Amino acid sequence: MYDFDKLTDRSGTLSYKWDVKSGELPMWVADMDFEVAPPIKKAIVSRAEHGIFGYTSTPDAFFEAVSLYWERRHGYRIPTEHMIYSNGVVAAISSIVRKLTTPAENVLIQAPVYNIFYNSILNNGRNVLSSDLVYDGENYSIDFEDLESKLALPQTSLMILCNPHNPVGRIWTREELAKIGSLCHKYGVTVLSDEIHCDITIPGEGYVPFASVNEECRAISVSAVAPSKTFNIAGLQSACLFAEDPVIRHKVWRAVNTDEVGEPNAFAMTADIAAFTECDVWVDEMLEYVFENKRIACEYINSNIDGMKATMSKATYLLWIDISGVTEDSVEFCERLRESTGLYLSDGREYGESGKSFVRMNLATQRARVLDGLERLRRGAELYTKEHK
Ligand SMILES: Cc1ncc(COP(=O)(O)O)c(C=O)c1O
Repeated sequence: MYDFDKLTDRSGTLSYKWDVKSGELPMWVADMDFEVAPPIKKAIVSRAEHGIFGYTSTPDAFFEAVSLYWERRHGYRIPTEHMIYSNGVVAAISSIVRKLTTPAENVLIQAPVYNIFYNSILNNGRNVLSSDLVYDGENYSIDFEDLESKLALPQTSLMILCNPHNPVGRIWTREELAKIGSLCHKYGVTVLSDEIHCDITIPGEGYVPFASVNEECRAISVSAVAPSKTFNIAGLQSACLFAEDPVIRHKVWRAVNTDEVGEPNAFAMTADIAAFTECDVWVDEMLEYVFENKRIACEYINSNIDGMKATMSKATYLLWIDISGVTEDSVEFCERLRESTGLYLSDGREYGESGKSFVRMNLATQRARVLDGLERLRRGAELYTKEHK
């Protein structure tokens, strides 16, 4: 049994998330406050002890470890010859946007969605086109009529799918993915399936790799997977892309190489291989812990915080909280929350206009911190409501 309750101190480690004032509680950036599984630490320490950190190649063992892991945990065997290494999913997304689309073309996303998708599209002079997810007050679904009308536009050339979806926590079903695949195929749109959150699913339920759905989905897509979220090694910057179609694969390979984001740092390979081969038990226990945090958080919010609602989503360690009963302005709310209680959440507006009355809370932390965060959220909501009466 691993001890996920152990309170870690991340101050002084240049942690992006923990670069906060004393007493503040950061529950925003999507990394975990848990120490990595022992085999990963051991692999890094033993690599460090060698003392020489020159240019590093990507061994077959990395691709084999990824392939075996997906087969074992997700029932889908990714052929190693379809894989390409890249040092980060976002780096790859930006390169792929540049390579597979031309300026001013539409890249379709489904807002509210991971904020950095917007950067990868806009910074490259492409147009963001959202087929917003539909919120029924509890769950999110896809408006397929709207999606089709936007994919049908001749200017739409790429769709970035978030599978499973950050921040709303949906695991897309095989049927939904097949429909997306069939529409994209019909209108000549390539699918970039970002599957970085795919392991973080509620115990007993798994995600569906887009490429596993059918031949059509495989033929029109490139997928991105990574050890970063699952094993808490985002700072080591690794990702693995795979595409069955040789033309798409060649373009992706050229894209990543042209932008020089295709070589690992000296610690990534040993850590990644250890992660994908020796840490299944750690992942299973981490998931039990994190989804219990999510259950506790939902129950707490729904019974103790007036004007807020949280749904027990099945994917990611992120909780997407509807604050519309308190305010429609998540930006102002998050600022006030941080000032008044020290709790630092992500404001939903970052994920698109349709996220403006939501906040995102990262629950991949020790239970004591979750309880502390929930109490601060309750206090912050009460204060905010009083101030805005
Ligand atoms: C959907 C999604 N894609 C990509 C990333 C980041 O990937 P990387 O660190 O490999 O660039 C994140 C991080 O939060 C994410 O949520």
